[in-house]
Amino acid sequence: MKLTDLDDAKTKLLSGDVVAIPTETVYGLGGWIYSDAGLKKIFSTKERPFFDPLIVHIDSMAKAKLLTSQWTEIHEALALAAWPGPLTLIAKKHSSVNPLITSGLDSVGLRCPRHEITLKLLSEIEGGVAAPSANKFGKTSPTTSKHVFEEFGESVSILEGGPSEVGIESTVVGIHKIDSQTVVEIYRPGFYTASMLEKILKNANLPAKVIYAASPVAPGQLKHHYMPKIPLVIVPDDFNWDKSHGLIEEKLGMTFKNPKLWTLSQNPTLASRELYENLRSFDQEGFDISLTSKIEYHHSEDWLGIWNRLEKAKTLSLEREEVRPKLSDDK
Ligand code: TXA
Ligand code: MG
Repeated sequence: MKLTDLDDAKTKLLSGDVVAIPTETVYGLGGWIYSDAGLKKIFSTKERPFFDPLIVHIDSMAKAKLLTSQWTEIHEALALAAWPGPLTLIAKKHSSVNPLITSGLDSVGLRCPRHEITLKLLSEIEGGVAAPSANKFGKTSPTTSKHVFEEFGESVSILEGGPSEVGIESTVVGIHKIDSQTVVEIYRPGFYTASMLEKILKNANLPAKVIYAASPVAPGQLKHHYMPKIPLVIVPDDFNWDKSHGLIEEKLGMTFKNPKLWTLSQNPTLASRELYENLRSFDQEGFDISLTSKIEYHHSEDWLGIWNRLEKAKTLSLEREEVRPKLSDDK
């Protein structure tokens, strides 16, 4: 594994190279926002299409403000309450922001990560560091340096920062005015839920409606994402492999010898921290398919971020109705 230290990471970034940086959500593949070469290298290393905009990481609100032409009181209140932390704020971009970062959009994603080492690095860099998750496009995000190494091998230098505490990517929000009412729209769910953001704004005397985007407005929010190497199947909670695996084999057109039936930890904080590590570990442990189910209490808001990732990472979902007849047939 090619590890780097703060000084070397800084030199690399400023000279147009990419460096994997730790954050509290997932590791990012960083490139300096003022280096065309660095930004292009992010896309080529990840094999990421240019239509998917990047998030800029900064260590202070002052730096965020330099990158936008419209920092509203809502941005200010959310940043004051949540930064450093897992919340990305979309704001109208400043004309100086490289279109490679924004995919030509007129807005930019800004985030101040809650990670000591990366905050120190960012404090020593002019502007900020653009960083998507440090994984090949569409694949499972990395929460440890080892995961980053598994993705890119020796080709990417890694700043070691220990395992990511939150474990899933930041909540991404856009801010609009609709009929003079402020609406905060969650493009990608994460640690910060609509209720939490509503409470922050209420406390700041800026009442706003916080909604979850109905359709994936964020350009990178494709249907399939975060995909593990072996198929992931969402099954009913009374699923029984021995009785019902025929249906899955039929649907996927493959046979499976070594299934991993797993459940998320009961605590959503822990479940999100472990999620990507779990998904990555199963194929390494020799399983050829993994299966999990959405339990009753997973329908609460705290689980939205986790299930958003699982729904995109899944290969197949078995509706209750599809499996039930099979189960009762077997009885
Ligand atoms: O937690 C995170 O946000 C991690 C760490 C590394 O900070 N980063 C991350 O980046 O998840 P990425 O590139 O994997 O996801 C960024 C998301 C994408 O869905 C992208 O479409 C959206 O943010 N995004 C970025 N800029 C945007 C913009 N101007 N308008 C709408 N969506 C934007
Ligand atoms: Mg990503």
